[in-house]
Amino acid sequence: MDRIKITGGAKLEGVIPISGAKNAALPLMIASLLTDETLTLENVPRLADVRQLFHILENHGVDHAVQGKRNGMDDLAGQTVSLTARAIVDTRAPYDLVSKMRASFWVIGPLLARMHEADVSLPGGCAIGTRPVDFFLEGLRALGADIEIERGYCLARAKGGLVGNRISFPRVSVGATHVMMMAATLAKGETVIENAAREPEIVDVAECLIAMGAKIEGHGSSTIYIQGVPRLHGARHRVAPDRIEAGTYAMATAMAGGDVTLDGATPQHLEHPIELLRQAGAEIDITNRGIRVRRNGHGIHAVDADTAPYPGFPTDLQAQFMALMTAGKGTSHITETIFENRFMHVQELARLGAKITLDGQKATVEGVERLQGAEVMATDLRASVSLVIAGLAAEGDTEVSRIYHLDRGFEHLEQKLSRCGAQIERISD
Ligand code: UD1
Repeated sequence: MDRIKITGGAKLEGVIPISGAKNAALPLMIASLLTDETLTLENVPRLADVRQLFHILENHGVDHAVQGKRNGMDDLAGQTVSLTARAIVDTRAPYDLVSKMRASFWVIGPLLARMHEADVSLPGGCAIGTRPVDFFLEGLRALGADIEIERGYCLARAKGGLVGNRISFPRVSVGATHVMMMAATLAKGETVIENAAREPEIVDVAECLIAMGAKIEGHGSSTIYIQGVPRLHGARHRVAPDRIEAGTYAMATAMAGGDVTLDGATPQHLEHPIELLRQAGAEIDITNRGIRVRRNGHGIHAVDADTAPYPGFPTDLQAQFMALMTAGKGTSHITETIFENRFMHVQELARLGAKITLDGQKATVEGVERLQGAEVMATDLRASVSLVIAGLAAEGDTEVSRIYHLDRGFEHLEQKLSRCGAQIERISD
């Protein structure tokens, strides 16, 4: 199994191109199920999760074509993918495919909207918590679907099609908002989603759906209005830049020191993390290329962070921020409010010499002078990249194993960091 070896201590200098957002690309690909015409997506990241979703969509009858390399194209550029769901031949999403990636459960929305039926395996647990699907089921039932759970599958039927309704989620859910928004595009009449997620990826998907002929208003706010239409058509859409990837490299630069421009990053999607990074001692400038990050000469200051739905501090940057705080001067408190088990990086960071204590959903991090390289294990996607960040500043060598987690969500990680001077390599046994 592949490992990543990092020799800590090198500063980062240069430009890192920011990829298309994984969390936008996945629901955008799923949206292709809503039309029999071709949906072309530009800037799709080359990630294991994207490849896995190709398999899932193929099983429903979706053809995909990936555009080959073009003259002058940077090796790190995203790919252009055309998806055509001319005929949906299978409305069943089986366990062996869905269990590999939770977001594949989201096909339930478009399948139900277009085919009026879907048999989708429940996603099962995952490393960062139980992650139930009750909001999805309540929402789809409100649109008139009959849903039964049988032998680990959601058997959903909407004879005569879905019908618009008002839905109010008890708490903000990104996935449930995506699914309801997609399902409502083809429902009869108006759907209103209250307490909707406001994440930039929701806005990106809404804009693509609008380009496909959907009638959506209010996306980006907590109330989304959708007027159902009889059919959607093909479109071309560019996936928005990955704010989590940009935030991750911003934290890596603050940790290692240096001067890095995050090319193509959208600063308005990262206001909260940028504010915390500034308080922690990073100098951040918004340029016409994206975001420039430098570390001032005074080291890292301890800063507190509480995760929250957008526009709050993203749970997907919590582990990376904690890695940075291990080098902070003083004590910081990091509270996780979205997922109940998202602190698995703590014991691995401790192997590098970090001083962290846990009390329920709150971590207290006491900064240390310098981390020490060690062998550590990736446990989930964002946790694994926090170990890379820690390794960049640790003394000596750090080896991160189980990096298939990293490959799920970070495109060309070693190339992007090594081009900026990091000593990082992938070791294949
Ligand atoms: C998405 C992101 C993930 C991010 C998360 C929160 C993708 C592919 N994944 O995950 O990277 O960390 O948003 O920003 O975009 N919940 C319920 N019942 C439900 C649905 C959710 O109780 O039916 C709970 C979850 O357990 C969690 C909270 O709601 O505690 C938020 O989860 P949600 O926003 O749905 O996360 P995902 O969409 O799975």
